[in-house]
Amino acid sequence: MKANALNFSGGPGALPESVLEQTRQAIEELPETGLSVLGMSHRSDWFRAILQEAENNLRALLGLSDDFAVTFLQGGSSLQFAMIPMNFATAVHARPEYVTSGYWSAKATAEAARVTACREAWNGRAGGFRQLPDLRALDIDRTAAYLHYVSNETVEGLQFPLFDEPPAVPLIADMSSDFLSRPLNPDAYSMIYAHAQKNLGPAGVTVAIIKRELLERVPDGLPVILDLRTHVEHGSNYNTPPVFAIYVLTLITRWLRDEIGGLAAMQAINARKATRLYQTLDALEGAVSLHADRPWRSQMNVAFGFGDPRLDAAFLAAAHERDMSGLEGHRSLGGLRASLYNAVSEQAVERLSEALTDFARHRA
Ligand SMILES: Cc1ncc(COP(=O)(O)O)c(C=O)c1O
Repeated sequence: MKANALNFSGGPGALPESVLEQTRQAIEELPETGLSVLGMSHRSDWFRAILQEAENNLRALLGLSDDFAVTFLQGGSSLQFAMIPMNFATAVHARPEYVTSGYWSAKATAEAARVTACREAWNGRAGGFRQLPDLRALDIDRTAAYLHYVSNETVEGLQFPLFDEPPAVPLIADMSSDFLSRPLNPDAYSMIYAHAQKNLGPAGVTVAIIKRELLERVPDGLPVILDLRTHVEHGSNYNTPPVFAIYVLTLITRWLRDEIGGLAAMQAINARKATRLYQTLDALEGAVSLHADRPWRSQMNVAFGFGDPRLDAAFLAAAHERDMSGLEGHRSLGGLRASLYNAVSEQAVERLSEALTDFARHRA
């Protein structure tokens, strides 16, 4: 297998080979325009059609009704940590509620606190961010502006179950690291956002799906670029958008639809990948420890280690010998992490499982 297919990075990470191939071709020359995608104007008919297709494909994959606006933003998910309270923490609602369940949600909570008074509905730091709460059981002010959480904690490898029904307050989810990995009921959410560099393509674009009724709450007077209505009203073409990233995202949505067969099929593949890796790691109990407690194990990111930085480094070297990359743990946690995003194949996970078992047998 090619090294690109064995990229277990936390993001940016693996992209499907067929998408990489089309991207190579598009950098050279787009079949539709005869020009490189890197030189395509954002005001061209070609790009307008790409933007429309990206939106249509996302709507079809997720089953989104017209109650939602779909928009493509810049500034990554980190900018949304600031823009969400700016746009939706209104004077007429009680403080927004934040769930701090890991590294990234801690960033979201801290950023929101710089913008507005907010309330921490739950904080898992004392438990080492190894567990998640039952979001439905939290004591939340029913007049709160919204409840924010991170659906998949990329660093710690913790994943929440999805919501089937809307909770009492508007629900806002950062789905950066598990977006499009499984079907969901969009109507349970008031806003879902996800940057591209996990399951959607290269870095540079962030998808935001926003219930139109939530947009009615945006206060006037925000800087135009930070007002979410601007991007919705201008069809994600207010200022120069990341044409290349949105093009590759569109290719990914086609791949999900045509090659994978939709999100239910993607979920089944992801479930098999995660099961294979967790079974391998569980079989190595004693030599390997997992960061997340069992009920909250993520299907996208698996944080683990051999309990000794020298052994972790030796495994990284052994994995490198087999063309595998991206297995270093996040700098805040150390250890190892395998990210099993959509483009990581079952064969790649098989290779990783074999490498782990061989290494544990001979070294750990
Ligand atoms: C769940 C989650 N949210 C937010 C971020 C920050 O994203 P960005 O670098 O696009 O600002 C990350 C980064 O990996 C993440 O995993």
